Formats: sequence, structure tokens, C-alpha cells
Amino acid sequence: MPATAAPIARRALRGDLLDFTADPGLGTPNAAAARFRPDHWLLIEGERIVAVLPPAQAPGDDWPREDHRGRLLLPGFIDTHVHSAQLDVIASFGTELLDWLERYTFPAEARHADPAHAARAAEGFVDALLACGTTAAVVFPTVHTTSVQALFGAARARGMRLVAGKVLMDRHAPAALRDDVTQAEADCEALIARWHGQGRLAYAVTPRFAATSTPAQLAMAGALLARHDGLYLQTHLAENRAEVAWIARLFPDARSYLDVYDRHGLLGERSVFAHGVWLDAADRARLAEAGAQIAHSPSSNLFLGSGLMDWRALHEAGAAVTVASDVGGGTALCMVRTLADAYKVQALRGEKLSAFKAVHAATLGAAQALQLAGEIGSFDAGRMADLCVWNWACGPVATHRDALARDLHERLFAWMMLADERALVTTVVAGRTRYERPTHESGAAMETRHERLEPGAAP
Ligand code: GUN
Ligand code: ZN
Repeated sequence: MPATAAPIARRALRGDLLDFTADPGLGTPNAAAARFRPDHWLLIEGERIVAVLPPAQAPGDDWPREDHRGRLLLPGFIDTHVHSAQLDVIASFGTELLDWLERYTFPAEARHADPAHAARAAEGFVDALLACGTTAAVVFPTVHTTSVQALFGAARARGMRLVAGKVLMDRHAPAALRDDVTQAEADCEALIARWHGQGRLAYAVTPRFAATSTPAQLAMAGALLARHDGLYLQTHLAENRAEVAWIARLFPDARSYLDVYDRHGLLGERSVFAHGVWLDAADRARLAEAGAQIAHSPSSNLFLGSGLMDWRALHEAGAAVTVASDVGGGTALCMVRTLADAYKVQALRGEKLSAFKAVHAATLGAAQALQLAGEIGSFDAGRMADLCVWNWACGPVATHRDALARDLHERLFAWMMLADERALVTTVVAGRTRYERPTHESGAAMETRHERLEPGAAP
């Protein structure tokens, strides 16, 4: 439930602050990009971060203090691709992408035609994000405008940064989930007028993927993007081999799957393409040139057996890569678990994803790719106070491993591989606490060793 308490004008949180000032890079990370300020004060006034102070400069008595010493404070995670209507089908057995859509996902999404169901699901979804430490997200609801209204309404009630839009599907989907170009365009215009730029909300033109939109609908999507400033584009791209082959049959004139979107005016610096597993060098160069991003979805790619995304090739091409849960293809909303999966996917490719690079990609890197770095992603003064307090370790194994870490990267890497949403203590959105771990569980396995760590120590 959204908190109803009066706004907290000022608060000062004390703990181990970690954020990023630059991209640490792939491979051996540039440790200087990580800004570690152990046992510091983070000062929040209203919705925004106003300062970070060293331990010796405690704020005055007019700053209510919250003692999180020995805990990790991170900017809130940014999940760049997730489906609000798929919690019903998370962890569904035995299929790959196209069967999974038909058998599990489309029936679940069809239930969102019912406004009461859509409203309940949207509230549950945003609360589940907050309970995982995700404070901003790029979200697919369903084809129904009711599901979009419910989602934006739920995010606004919690002060969250959210990017979303009505799913466009005018072919190759069950009748209950199909729209048509004219009605879809009118619905999008009404939703843009209602929600785009309202507080922390932005509209994303959302063709599900090239298989479920006719060329006429893709052209309409491109026209919407051209007509309105600041819209996002979200869709799926090159996730699974059977899907890629299907797109090639549907669009025989296109050079590639990405080219289908490009021809319809869907590539730009606010374009978010989920997956991008099966791309070639020309696609990667075009993504970089357009300033578009790949929302890497490692949990989903493993679970649906889709493939191993080539982060290095995208990185070398200069294309942005962010990280996404892609629930319900992914098996966890928790971005810490998702980052652990990203490490394992890259390990299968022979690439070593540092914890610095991974956490950067899910915070400042995502904020930059979404053109939102002036608002979220770091602890710079003036940013919105979207942040989380985490226990460094939870349970005996993680606590044991944490105690042996010799430097910051080793400690953060062990946290990334071993933690999950149970390590989350508090989620703050725009200066207000929106999630608090029940007290009987919080801090049970906490350990305070911050003074041993070297700020910015190399892994
Ligand atoms: N491709 C088209 N729709 C979907 C979806 O809902 N999930 C995933 N993972 N891929 C898709
Ligand atoms: Zn998806």
C-alpha cells in the first residue's frame, strides 16, 4: 500500500554510500568510476538529495537522523524492461518464447481487460518492484487502456519514475488482445495527453514486437514518435532464433530485425529494445548511431533458452546496454538476482562482468541511456531521492563470505552474487519511504565492517 504519512521535509541517512560518476567499463573495471563513501551522511530535503557529508560533519538537530551504519546505500535500481501483467505467469514450465507467449502469457494478459483486475495487478506490481529496490522502470502493461491507466495511476500514487504505454498488437495474437490501427492511435493520443510528462511519468510507444504489428501499425507508431516530444519507444528485438526467422519471413525486404523498426522511424535515443541477443555488426553500429539501448534480460534469456547476449560486441560498437528483469520471462523482479544472472551469462561467453559495471548499468548507466541522469541514478546533489538501504549480507553463508572480502569490489561482487530482495531494508522514492522490511527480519545477519574498506579499491 502507498504510505499515507505526511511528507518528511528533511532526513539524514547514515551508511556506506555507493554510486558511480562514470562507466567503469567492461573487463577489468575502472575503480575510480565507483564513488564509495563509507559511513557518510546522505541528506534529503523534500524530494531531493541535497548533500553528502563525511561522518565527522554530522548534520544539525534539525535533520532527523536514520542510522544505517554497516549497511549499503545505493541509488534505486532502474529496470529497463518488465511486464506488469505477467506476474501470473512467472516461472511457467517447459516452453521457449513463441510457445510461452501463446500458452501462458496471452491468456494472462487477456484478463487485464477487466478494470478491477488491472487495477489490483498494477498496485501489486509496483509494490513488488519497490519491495525489490527498483524505484524506476520501463514497463509493458497490456493492450488494454485500462491496464495503462492503472499502472500510471499506481506509479503516480507512489511518486515513482515510470515509463510505459499501451501495447500495440493488431495481428498474430488472440482476438481478445488485438487492436486496430485507428483505435490504437486514438487510444495512444488520449493516453499521451493524460499521462506523458505528468510528474515523473513518461509515455512509451509500445509495439509488442514486429510479429504482432502490421506495417501500418508500425508506421502509426513512428508517426506518434515524430508528433510528440520526449516519447519513448519500447519493444522486443532479436530475442530467440525462431522469432528472428519469423520476422525475416514477415518482412522479407528488411535487412535485419532491427531494420524493420528502423524503416518505421522507431530508432532514436529514447528507444529501448529488449534482448538484442541475435544481432549483427551492422545492427550494433546502427543502435550506437541512433543512441538506442539494449535492455539486456539475462534471467529471461536463460529461462526461455533464448541465448547469450554479446555485451562486449555492443560495448565495442558504442551501444548502450542496460539491465532488465523481463518478468514474466525473467524469474525475478529483483535486480540483484538479475545482475547475478548477467554475470553468469557473460561468463558463458568468456566475458567477466565486474560488479562495478553491473551495478552501474542498473543505476547511472540506465539513467543516462534513458536521458534521465539529471533526475535519477546517482547521489549527486539535486537528484531525486530514490534510493535503497541494503544489508551487505543476509544469512550465514553470505555473512561468512562478506567478512572475508578484502576490498570494495570483492565485497560488492559477493553481495551481487549472494544477495536478493531479502537483503533490502528500506526503499525511498522521492524522499519518502515506500518500502520497509518487516523489523523481525531486518538486520538479522548484518555485519558492520565498513571501516576496513578502501574507498574505490581496485578489484
Ligand atoms: N516478445 C514479444 N512479447 C514478449 C514478452 O511478453 N516477453 C518476452 N520475453 N518476449 C516477448
Ligand atoms: Zn519482454
